[in-house]
Order: sequence, then C-alpha cells, then structure tokens
Amino acid sequence: MTAPLPIKTVATKPFNDQRPGTSGLRKKTRVFQQPHYLANFVQSIFSSLEGFAGKALVVGGDGRFFNREAIQLILKMAAANGFGEIIVGRSGILSTPAASAVIRHDKAFGGIVLSASHNPGGPDADFGIKYNISNGGPAPEKITEAIFAHSKAIESYKTVEAADIDIDSLGETFIGATKVRIIDPVAIYRDLMASLFDFAAIRALFASGFTMKFDAMSAVTGPYAKAILEGDLGAAPGTVLNGEPLPDFGHHHPDPNLVHCKHLYDLAMSDASPDICAASDGDGDRNLVIGRGQFVTPSDSLAIIAANAHLAPGYKSGIAGVARSMPTSAAADRVAHKLHVGMYETPTGWKFFGNLLDAGKVTICGEESAGAGSNHVREKDGLWAILMWLNVLAARKQSVKEIVRAHWAEYGRNYYSRHDYEEVATEGANALVAALRAKLPTLAGQQFGALTVESADDFAYLDPIDGSMSRQQGVRILFAGGSRIVYRLSGTGTSGATLRVYIERYEPDAARHDLETQAALADLIALAEQLADISKHTGRDKPSVIT
Ligand code: G6P
Ligand code: ZN
Repeated sequence: MTAPLPIKTVATKPFNDQRPGTSGLRKKTRVFQQPHYLANFVQSIFSSLEGFAGKALVVGGDGRFFNREAIQLILKMAAANGFGEIIVGRSGILSTPAASAVIRHDKAFGGIVLSASHNPGGPDADFGIKYNISNGGPAPEKITEAIFAHSKAIESYKTVEAADIDIDSLGETFIGATKVRIIDPVAIYRDLMASLFDFAAIRALFASGFTMKFDAMSAVTGPYAKAILEGDLGAAPGTVLNGEPLPDFGHHHPDPNLVHCKHLYDLAMSDASPDICAASDGDGDRNLVIGRGQFVTPSDSLAIIAANAHLAPGYKSGIAGVARSMPTSAAADRVAHKLHVGMYETPTGWKFFGNLLDAGKVTICGEESAGAGSNHVREKDGLWAILMWLNVLAARKQSVKEIVRAHWAEYGRNYYSRHDYEEVATEGANALVAALRAKLPTLAGQQFGALTVESADDFAYLDPIDGSMSRQQGVRILFAGGSRIVYRLSGTGTSGATLRVYIERYEPDAARHDLETQAALADLIALAEQLADISKHTGRDKPSVIT
C-alpha cells in the first residue's frame, strides 16, 4: 500500500439527462466525451451508495471505443471516493455476465460495467455505463433513481492526481491507498461454466463430429468463447468467428438478431449448415441459437431451457421456478405449470429478476430480447445459454430441430414476433401510447374478427419480495385463447423513441406448427396497427426491424 493521495475536488454543473434507462445510462459516445459528463455520473453513482469504504469495486467493459479512457477515470475517482480495492479485467475487458460472476466470486461491494450492450460502438456510435450491486445484478430502481437525483444536483466530484494505470498486465498496483488488481477476464467465468455443465459430454459431442459456428461479432465474447468452446470443449479451430474484441466492433452491429446475424441464419438454412449456429452481443449477455434449419426464438429458448435444465449437472435437482419479462411469450409458463414450479411475470429489464433469484423463488429467467440466464449470476448470460443448449443436445442426442419440434408437440407453439419502429419522433410515440392508454377501459369484451379481447391494461408489477411497485410497463391486450398484442417504448435507445410491438398467438394443434410466423400472426399484426394507429403516430408504414 502507498500513502493516500490528496483528494482533488473538481467543481462541476449538473447535466439533466443522466437518468439510467432499462440498463444503465446509454448515450452517444460524444455525449460521454463532453468534459465532466462521465465524471458527474460516476460521482452520482458513488454518492448514492453507502458503506463501501475499504471495499472492492469490479470494473470492466465490452472493449468498445472510450472503454479504456472511462476506466482510467473511474479508477481515480473510485480511489478518491474511498474504495479499498478495484478489480479490473485485463485490457478493460469483462463481459456483463463475467462482471457479475467476479462481483459474486470476490464478494465485491459492486461493479461498474461499461457497455452499450448490442448498440454499435465507436466515436459516432454509442457508449454506456451501469452499476451492479453486491449480488452481481443491475442496480434496482431505488438506486438508479438516487443516481439520477444526485446527477441533477451535483456540484463537484472527487478524484486524485495519478498516472494512468497499466491495465494490460495482470497483477497488483496501488493508487494511493487503493489496491488495483488486474485479473484474467475469463478465468472465474470459465470455472463457473465448468461447474454447471457436463463439459465431458459436450467434449464427446464435438469429438463425434458435431459442428458449430459462434459469431462473437468482434465484441467481448471472443476470448470467452475461444477459451471455452475451442479450448475446454474441443470445438474445431475456427468455430469462433470474429473472436477479437475491437473498439468499433469491426463495424459489426453486435446485436444477435436475424437482421444483424442474417449471415448465420442463411448459413443455418443452407445445405452447408453446421449443427448449431450461435452468437452473442456487444457485452456478452444476449444469445442467438439457430439449429440446422431451425431458428429458436428467445421465448421458445427460455421454455426449452426450463424444460431441460435438469440435464445439466448444475441444475440436476430441478428448478425452483421460472421468470420472464411481460412481453416474452407465455411458452415458459406452460413448462412451469407442468413442472409445478413458480412462474413470475416481470417488467422488461433484467434488474427485476434479481430479487426473485436472491430469494430462491426462481432458477431460470429469460426475456424475448434474446436474454436467458439463471441463478449462477445476476445478469443474463449469452454463452451460458449456448452452453446449456450444447449440454441438452449432448444429453438428448437429438438435433436442435428435433428438440424444438418435440417441445411444440408437447406444449403447443407460441407463434411470436416483435415489430420495432426505431428512432421515431418521441412526441408521436408518446401520443400513440397516451391514446392507447385512454382506450384501455373500452377494449375488454370487444370483438375484432375472430379475436375477442379478454382484458387490456397497462402492466404494473408489484415486486413480491420488496413490495416495490413499477407502473406503466407496457400496454397489453389479451385475447381469448392466449393471443396477445403488447406495446412498449424501448428504454435502451439513444436517439428518438423506439416503439416495440410484441405479437403472440398460441397454437395447440401440432398439425398447425409449420406456418410461417408472420403469416400465422397476420390478423394480429393488422389489428395492432388498427388499434394503435401506428402509421399515423410514427409516420412509418412498416417496422424497421422484425424479429
Ligand atoms: C437490455 C436489458 C434487457 C431488456 C432489453 C430490451 O438488454 O438488459 O433486460 O430486455 O435491454 O430493452 P428495451 O427497453 O430496449 O426493450
Ligand atoms: Zn447486452
């Protein structure tokens, strides 16, 4: 330890746009590069916390442009604010799930993850920062609102004068009295995965000729995927594509959906398809799984994981319950029902799962937005979901397609699609939601063609653990027979508003499980436009992204 450094108090003025969204504060990189902008937010985080003096803070990010500069600033401010130790992923790299794992493993007070998730990176793209608490999960709204309140009143922040820390070499150093420990970003996470999954069975699967392509999209998961898939599990070299994290993600848009991973989809639908194609996003918490000739929707993936988790050693004694975000399809509900375990419907945002996981109410969680995870960390986890699929494939000795088909035959199929209207004018989007809300009381009982509205509301969630209430989490229109239309404004965009329309139809009849999804949902899609006047309010006659 070296002697404490004098604390420098820097005068500043508030920015008024630092309210964390669905997952931390996300803005254009240039917004973060304004003088004092990041420092104000970091100080607002620290000012919202109590009892961290002398304790450890984990810091890392997805490697995007401005990651390194942000880390140097955070290191000095964390030292000035009195953290005892700062644990940093080498070269500033920590995937979101790995950061969660390190916080838990090293019993840190909390962590800061630098990422704008699946948004592109670079000087003209996006940057983000989020705070995670000691359970490894995203800060709950109580803390994010406190951060926002501090950010609106801030007059100064604390830092120290110190040389930049070498974050590229493993080992320990000090900023004054604060220890800085640079760790291997992969090791703790890799051990955790080995403790949950049957690596020997998956190794045998690969040894028997099973083939895979995993696209890390030049974002954070490359080092993790190479170490685990090609290293521990013996997948052929070249299984991992775009495996080096790059500051601009090599101009990839690291969102593992069917638009930005069309190449994987096309490969999986071709004669040259490997047994499984998969991808993750910028910070490693999302997943995409496509079997040969079979795309797996995130909602189906959650249901299939819940139904098969007992095949993986880490879950062999069964699961305590399942949670999904409200817009996620009800496929998982049917599994929970059959397993006689609890089912929880939460607002969008992984932070809402934290209390349920901590209380042992649920083991598996998932969202339509390509996220799945379990109680092993408190974030969704892209590679975890993919390893779970590999474990299930190895145990069942069936293809992805066979497993999906058998699942539908057993539980029925929830046809599901999300239509996004990205970067529309905020005013129009707000007007659309306001008009829908006004209409809600009149909808129940109304008939639209073959569809009868059973109920309609603006989703509100009462957290069963801490009693907190979250209102206005999405307008949902539920129809007799299990069909649904849900409307929500995204909380993760960085310019304008994004309207998400989630459309779902339940089909119990196995003879009708082969329809093309958009065709199967056609009447609901038309009704979604009719009920919300989407084109009038957004000026768009079709969605920008369909997933
Ligand atoms: C992030 C969050 C998820 C959320 C997703 C979509 O990835 O971690 O929990 O489902 O964003 O959020 P949005 O508000 O854009 O629909
Ligand atoms: Zn992400």
